[in-house]
Amino acid sequence: MNPIHEDGQKLLASAERLADSLVAFRRDLHAEPELSLDERETSRKVAEQLTGLGLEVRTGVGGYGVTAGLHGSGPAPVIALRADMDALPVLPFASRRPGVMHACGHDAHTAILLGAARLLTERRERLNGSVRFLFQAAEEINAGAKAMIVDGALDGVAEIYGLHNLPTLSAGKIATRAGALMGSVDRIEIDIEGKGGHGAIPDQCIDPIVAASAIVLSLQTAVSRELSPFAPAVVTVGSLQAGEANNVIPHRARLTGTVRTFAPEVQSGMPERLERLVMRIAEGHRCRAELRYIPQTPVLVNHDDCLVHVESAMDRLLGREQRVQAEPTMAGEDFSVYLQRVPGCLFWLGSGPETGAEQAFGLHHPRFTLNEACLPVGAAALAAIALERLAAGQA
Ligand code: NI
Repeated sequence: MNPIHEDGQKLLASAERLADSLVAFRRDLHAEPELSLDERETSRKVAEQLTGLGLEVRTGVGGYGVTAGLHGSGPAPVIALRADMDALPVLPFASRRPGVMHACGHDAHTAILLGAARLLTERRERLNGSVRFLFQAAEEINAGAKAMIVDGALDGVAEIYGLHNLPTLSAGKIATRAGALMGSVDRIEIDIEGKGGHGAIPDQCIDPIVAASAIVLSLQTAVSRELSPFAPAVVTVGSLQAGEANNVIPHRARLTGTVRTFAPEVQSGMPERLERLVMRIAEGHRCRAELRYIPQTPVLVNHDDCLVHVESAMDRLLGREQRVQAEPTMAGEDFSVYLQRVPGCLFWLGSGPETGAEQAFGLHHPRFTLNEACLPVGAAALAAIALERLAAGQA
């Protein structure tokens, strides 16, 4: 076990002193969650806090996004730290807004980044460069990062870092992974047109339900027969809508689904594979088909240098024994869009119970809960990453 660095201990102690205010801020956001593209009050509260710290605040960045600049002794480089702020349309058990819940812990991410902003503001003389705090809206619909970039949030940024809480990992621990950490996310929409009629006279109809069924089954072969078994990918048809009555062949059927991959070259080949299968199978069943393939987020690939920096900073802050290797996941995060522009790293922050964390309800579950002990740890973690990257004389 390597000892926690003395600076790390001091930083953690400072973060612990902020714990009550971080918890209060997070609970306020948790009680008043706002959906993607509707983060008006959340954004206002964040901007108010940042203005109170004397930072250079910009609002309306990529929708309700907020950025804040903290300038140390030198102008560059600029290190960006990012949090997302939106909630989900999940039936809540602890919010005052019907049908809206912070089921992914973005309320915690927002409180954590505010905590990091406070810790870094108190230590600005140690920054040989600048820190830009990115409070991003609309992560859950994969729109916020792109909108932030269009509005200049990454201009001049050298590196970007972020975290996501993980309730199946105990609070106090972090998890990192080299290379790809999270999958790409694409959406598919398929319309199939046949010819409706009486269910007893199929010969006078063209049945889009049979064609749709064949398409659902065959789409799986895009993964199982066309990709290497060592190249993970998922095609899930999540909705299939057709017909109203048991004895009527409908005129059309509609499918929607999600496509996940774990390598950019696999993602780039999926539109052609799916288009070929959909069109030819529909044709074989005398139907007309249309596939809309909608790319949403790329594979989240951490940059090696930035990952090494996160790991060494976390070992000094928390101790090596608190860091584990992250499992890969096909869940997506639009932090990947920033990583296509600038080097950076996203890592998991444990937000589960001290013991038996693997039993906790996962992200997006209606009974998702969060161990608030992760708030000061996360604030200290982001602050340590920026402090060490911009350590006066070493940057
Ligand atoms: Ni999330």
